[in-house]
Amino acid sequence: MSIKTNELTHIYNPGTPFEKLALNGITLNIPKGKVTAIIGQTGSGKSTFVQHLNALLVPTSGSVDIENYHIQPGTKIKDIKELRKKVGLVFQFPEYQLFEETIEKDIAFGPKNFGTSEEEAVALAKKVLPIVGLDDRYLQRSPFDLSGGQKRRVAIAGILVLEPNILVLDEPTAGLDPQGAQEMMTLFMDLNKKQGKTVLLVSHDMEHVKDYCDHVIVFDQGKVKIESSVKEFFQHPEWMENIGINPPAIIRLKKMLNEKGFCIPDDVLEMDTLVKIVKEQVKTYE
Ligand SMILES: Nc1ncnc2c1ncn2[C@@H]1O[C@H](COP(=O)(O)OP(=O)(O)OP(=O)(O)O)[C@@H](O)[C@H]1O
Ligand SMILES: [Mg+2]
Repeated sequence: MSIKTNELTHIYNPGTPFEKLALNGITLNIPKGKVTAIIGQTGSGKSTFVQHLNALLVPTSGSVDIENYHIQPGTKIKDIKELRKKVGLVFQFPEYQLFEETIEKDIAFGPKNFGTSEEEAVALAKKVLPIVGLDDRYLQRSPFDLSGGQKRRVAIAGILVLEPNILVLDEPTAGLDPQGAQEMMTLFMDLNKKQGKTVLLVSHDMEHVKDYCDHVIVFDQGKVKIESSVKEFFQHPEWMENIGINPPAIIRLKKMLNEKGFCIPDDVLEMDTLVKIVKEQVKTYE
C-alpha cells in the first residue's frame, strides 16, 4: 500500500488575514514496506503534510491516494473512516491526547470506536501493552500518573491496537532521554522489519535518519526540496548545509579528518569502516 500525493496544497485560514500557504504542490510516492524520513526546518510543513495521510486535514487542492482511498477537497470523514485504521498517526507529543481514567480504557477506545465489543477491545488492550514495553499491572492505572515516556508508550499502544499497515510518526522521540528514544526507535523498526509495516518518520534527529531510514524527503517552505535514498543523502553534506541541518556525528568527523589531510571517501557512513581507513592512512604516512 504505497502513498501517493498529487499537487497536494494546504492553506490554513483561507481568505482571512491569517491565511497561510503551508503546503504548496507536494507530489510524492512513498514506497510500501520501507522507512521514509521527512525532514526540514521548523514550519516547513511536515506536520501539516502527515495530517493529510489519515484525513485529519483535507487538501485545499490536489489529492492523496492510499490503497483505494482517494482524499481530495470536500472529502467527508464518513467516506474514509476505515482509513484511520490503516494509517496510524502518532502526533507530536501524543501523550497530550490521553483522556480516559485508566490506561485500559484509553487503549480500548479506538477499537470500540470502530465497533469492537467492550470485552474484545479490553482483550486487545491487554495484548498490545507489552509490545510498547509496559506490563499488565499498568492497565488499571491512570494514564496521568505516568512519566512522560510511559505516557507516550500508552498513546502509541492506542494506535498500534488498531493494527495499522502504515505508521506515521511525527517526531516520536522528541523530548525523550537517549535510552527512551532508542527503545522507541527499536520498537518501530521491529514493526517495520517483522511485520512489514510502512513507516513514515518526521524527525529532526539526523542520527535516527541515518541509522534507521531507507529514504529521505526534505521539506522546505511547503515544497519538496530533495527526495533521495538515505545513503545518497548523507554523501552530500552541502545539501544539509543548504537546509540548515546539523549532519550526523560521523559526517562532521569525516569533514574534520579531510581538513587535516586524510582522504575519506564520500560513501563511508559507518564508524568501523572509518576507523579502518584512518588506520591504513596513518600506517601509509608512517
Ligand atoms: N492550525 C494552524 N493554523 C494556521 N497556521 C498553521 C497551523 N498549523 C501550522 N500552521 C503554519 O503552517 C506552517 C507549517 O506548519 P507545520 O506545523 O506543518 O510545520 P512543521 O514542519 O511540522 O514544523 P515543526 O518542525 O516546528 O514541527 C507554519 O508556518 C505554521 O505556522
Ligand atoms: Mg511539526
